[in-house]
Amino acid sequence: MATTIEQPEKTKAEPQLLGLLAEFDDPHALIEASKKVRDAGYSKWDTHTPFPLHGIDEAMGIKWTILPWIVACCGLMGGTIAVSMQYWMNAVDYPFLISGKPLFSIPASIPITFELSVLLAAFGAFLGMLGLNQLPKLYNPMFKSQAFRRVTNDRFFISMDAKDAKFSEIDTGEFLNSLNPLQVEEFWSDVESPKLPRPLILALSFVGVLLIMPPALVAYKRSTTTNTPRIHIIQDMDFQPYLKTQNTTNIFADGREVRPHIEGTIPRGQYKDDNIPFYYGLKELPEDQDVIAIALQDEAKPADGKVEASKPADTPPADPSAATATEDKLADLPWVTEFPMPVTEKMMARGKESYSIYCSACHGLGGEGDGLVSLRAMELQQGTWVRPASYHTENVRNLPVGRLFHTISNGVRKMPGYAAQIPPEDRWAIVLYLRALQKSHQIDAKDLRQEEVEKLRTTK
Ligand code: HEC
Repeated sequence: MATTIEQPEKTKAEPQLLGLLAEFDDPHALIEASKKVRDAGYSKWDTHTPFPLHGIDEAMGIKWTILPWIVACCGLMGGTIAVSMQYWMNAVDYPFLISGKPLFSIPASIPITFELSVLLAAFGAFLGMLGLNQLPKLYNPMFKSQAFRRVTNDRFFISMDAKDAKFSEIDTGEFLNSLNPLQVEEFWSDVESPKLPRPLILALSFVGVLLIMPPALVAYKRSTTTNTPRIHIIQDMDFQPYLKTQNTTNIFADGREVRPHIEGTIPRGQYKDDNIPFYYGLKELPEDQDVIAIALQDEAKPADGKVEASKPADTPPADPSAATATEDKLADLPWVTEFPMPVTEKMMARGKESYSIYCSACHGLGGEGDGLVSLRAMELQQGTWVRPASYHTENVRNLPVGRLFHTISNGVRKMPGYAAQIPPEDRWAIVLYLRALQKSHQIDAKDLRQEEVEKLRTTK
């Protein structure tokens, strides 16, 4: 027995009534009609006008927007998240003590709290506005109405939504007609929506695939290992064929990268024996090299080309009598008493500049030993500070220029040497300025020019 099963007829989706449109040609008529719709108790309806209409909100009975509350909530949420995040990160998850400051403090957390509050509030305002207005809306069935096209030009519309609880096709239609519109129109849903064009679908899927690739690649790379070095996009000078300290190399037989001095060699431009007064402040190097050992601190001993470990200039001799012994021996050396170069105004200016950079902190701008570092050290009263010598004592005034040069180069007792920081020409320039400072305290009025005497008289 054969039975034929009746195919149910393919039901075509019925178009549905979505609402009614009432058209007006006058804004005042629209406002009057709106008041009536409002009073009739409809809630899902809207007005459409070519320009903003004053008073339409009131006529429609539109309530205040809740957007400010959304913004406030989002802002508060941002602030709370920021504070708790910073508290958790700084005080709980990774506590890190910096200069004894508290792990968490509100003032330090304000910038991020502020930023996050503003950020979430802005998101709330933007997305909230879109959401409340049900945007973005790409298509509206009302657009199919020919009459509705004039809404951007010179017509005014009221649209009633069929989803409104009070809506009924006949009653609402009659009600709208009673408002004296030009016409009332129905608008219906589409039976079938038009399909997306094929090229658009292809383009969108292509973009989608492209977008997936970078994260997929990252995920792949993170879960696999490789022997090739990582990609180093910005090279700067990161890879250079230089040797690094404390490493080994097979270039040299002993395998060390750091090379010792080669005996008897002198770096270019550092040969000093052709100008002993300039480099040592001595007329000639004395026979007994040990006597000037301290005078040669960082310099290679030239006579026999041997390199000797030098005493660090800032380590005072342990035994004070030994210190005086060195002093005494130094006093006997043949120090130069004249500058080993022509003295110029430029040199004096350079000396003043270098002096204020390197010496004034301790010795003071006038050379009295009252530099800021010294004043502070004495204020602390720790007992370890030796007050820098004044340049204006008999003792220092009598030192020959060569000896002063030696003092700057190698230091004296508690004072460190400055050979490493100050090149020899500048050291001599400082000696010159030091001499000028001394003279400024000991000058005879007869030696002054007339205008300088005048200046001194008038200066208070
Ligand atoms: C860090 C502080 C400090 C600085 C910087 C400093 N000195 Fe001194 N200087 C001293 C002290 C301290 C003494 C006294 C040392 C002692 O008596 O033990 C001294 C002593 C001297 C003396 C007396 C030497 C002697 O034989 O009695 C001269 C000259 C001198 N300094 C020049 C200079 C010059 C020039 C500079 C700048 C290049 C300079 N000092 C920078 C601390 C300093």
